[in-house]
Amino acid sequence: MTAGHGSSQGLPALERVLWLREEIARHDYLYYVLDAPQIPDAAYDALLRELGELEAQHPDWIIPESPTQRVGGKASAEFGTVIHTEPMLSLANAFTDDEVIAFDRRVREAIGENAPEYAAELKFDGLAVALRYEAGTLVQAATRGDGSAGEDVTANVRTIRAVPLRLTVPQEVAPLVLEVRGEVLMLRADFDRLNARQRSLGEREFVNPRNAAAGSLRQLDPGITASRPLRFFAYGIGQVDPATGTSLPQTHLAMLNWLVTLGLPVGSHRRAIATPAGLLEFWRETLSQRHLFPYEIDGVVYKLNRRDWQTRAGWLARAPRWAIAHKFPAEEMLTVLQDITVQVGRTGAITPVAKLRPVFVGGVTVSNATLHNEDEILRKNLWIGDTVIVRRAGDVIPEVLRSLPQSRPADARPFVMPSHCPVCGSSVEREADGAIWRCVGGLFCGAQRRQALLHFAQRRALDIEGLGEKVVDQLVERGLVKTPADLFRLTQSELIPIFRAKNPAEESRAATNLLQAIQAAKQTRLERFVFALGIRHVGQEVARILAMEYGDLDPMIGEDWKKLIVRKTIIQKDNQRRRNHGEALQAVPLEGIGTEIMDSLGRFFAEPHNLGVIAALRASGVQWPVQQPVALSSVQSIGQTGPSAAGGETIFEPLPLQALTIVITGRLPTLGRDQAADMARAAGAKVASSVSKRTSWVLAGEDAGSKLPRAIELGVPIIDESEFLRRINHG
Ligand code: IVH
Repeated sequence: MTAGHGSSQGLPALERVLWLREEIARHDYLYYVLDAPQIPDAAYDALLRELGELEAQHPDWIIPESPTQRVGGKASAEFGTVIHTEPMLSLANAFTDDEVIAFDRRVREAIGENAPEYAAELKFDGLAVALRYEAGTLVQAATRGDGSAGEDVTANVRTIRAVPLRLTVPQEVAPLVLEVRGEVLMLRADFDRLNARQRSLGEREFVNPRNAAAGSLRQLDPGITASRPLRFFAYGIGQVDPATGTSLPQTHLAMLNWLVTLGLPVGSHRRAIATPAGLLEFWRETLSQRHLFPYEIDGVVYKLNRRDWQTRAGWLARAPRWAIAHKFPAEEMLTVLQDITVQVGRTGAITPVAKLRPVFVGGVTVSNATLHNEDEILRKNLWIGDTVIVRRAGDVIPEVLRSLPQSRPADARPFVMPSHCPVCGSSVEREADGAIWRCVGGLFCGAQRRQALLHFAQRRALDIEGLGEKVVDQLVERGLVKTPADLFRLTQSELIPIFRAKNPAEESRAATNLLQAIQAAKQTRLERFVFALGIRHVGQEVARILAMEYGDLDPMIGEDWKKLIVRKTIIQKDNQRRRNHGEALQAVPLEGIGTEIMDSLGRFFAEPHNLGVIAALRASGVQWPVQQPVALSSVQSIGQTGPSAAGGETIFEPLPLQALTIVITGRLPTLGRDQAADMARAAGAKVASSVSKRTSWVLAGEDAGSKLPRAIELGVPIIDESEFLRRINHG
């Protein structure tokens, strides 16, 4: 098509400009039409940049067809109107095999031929445009509109690189008038990238590639369209000048091939088919490959291949009689979000689930869809009662894309996360660092039962041999075991039926073996037992540290975990200071165990259900040797005497704020008010809510109210957060 030589560096500037234009058009053709790029993007960009620089030096050389002129141009207040000389018709749809067979019968009757050939191709899911080329140059682009008049989107379409600004034939042989019809769309990968960009800019995301393509094309500012990665695929022609009309290829498929030679992209999945059975086969085959295409398709289109027979078949009011769209099951449908319930997973995670008015989408009836988490519900703006868009693509699980808030009924209501687990009634808490809510029921919760039992019995925990998945499933299904404590109440006669062995003797032996293993597991070690409880974040290593520091379970249960977190933070901060001053360090309780774990321990032991299971386990004889706690445990607080840390010096001092009464007011720069109060209490202070003569000092932040003048009036010292932290650390 163009000068294919590798370089034209030595040419005079004008020739270089002409060469660059042809070279860029050639690479556009290789990339967009043949789908076979020859150079990397960076090399292409370099050609474009060089052309831009030369044109900047010689502005009078710039022509509208130059690839540098795709960038956009001025924004307009509204689109002009384009009257379609040949109406842009729609297609009739077929959804079933029978409808396709009926279509073929109608066509045969209309043209009086027995076995006409069809062209089968993809039905692109984008938006229709008509491109008008005059003497080979793109002069106008219009949307379909109502079929007889559309919008003038020339400036926008010029920014689409897949649309040639000039047809690739010499001007003297180019058709005088050629209107090319096709679909503007966005590739799925480009759509994902665009939405990621929208997200990072805090802009609204597009619902699907078709909406993104439509929104991008119908921008009054073509500069915005230029920044959106749009594509174009031709599937037919509209108006042509009479001379071209007489010399057009005879069949639809030959005409598509001709469009390719003119530089226009055409979908490559197309073929001639002779029988209705062949059409149905094409549909099935294409449906099975639907997700392999880089763009969305919503069906296939069959067209009578001979163009003279198309004319003979004729047109109905809005669609040709010679073509039909054979649709795929819709992947997106509207339905009503009737309710949002929650599901409890095996780890206690609470997942909201959409209860939908049943809807046929993506080939199946969908009535439930996971909503993942609470944030997702907020992000998608879903209220119970809303009309929502549901998507099911291929084998992918159904998804609620978003609501249509404009059709929200008056009685719609937002979702509220339940405060208690629907399965076991334990409280539900949001994880500190995430969007997930969890049931704290742990061992007690039916939803977590199977997982909890397997965890409890595993080798690294109570090591009950023979208690694998199959047996646990049976025990749970038969309702024999609800909590690990129930394991120790199992009897031989209950166990025999769960082993489906070859003969009764073997079943009995298996039951005896399991009972013996359960019996043997009663003698355990504290670290194994703590690990076996399945407390969130408490793995083997954490269980080992806990067992070592506490020596027995009761001190762990009795621990004030919230206070311990505060005290540990204070000690760590003070150790920092001591380290800087070369002073001896204080022993840190539970070194190696972070606040998240301590928080989880606090929640677990605060749950009466869990304490009940522990008590039942002990009552059935589960036991461990009690050890001497080896490090500073929380049983004693700083300022009291206690055993010293193994191998290190333990220093006990009076608490830094011992016997003080303080008041906190205003917004502190880094600490929350509650946090500061907890720290003060842990450091020995009383925290009061109003200032009096007995107040030792007031900790004040920004926007402090009436407490400040009161403190001044009474002569109570006022300190800020940094002074507070200093006093807490230094006393
Ligand atoms: S032919 C007279 N072929 O589907 C024939 N249309 O439902 C007119 N479409 O407005 C259209 N892929 O936007 C044709 N291969 C294809 C198509 C196709 C997508 C769109 C087009 C049209 C709509 C009709």
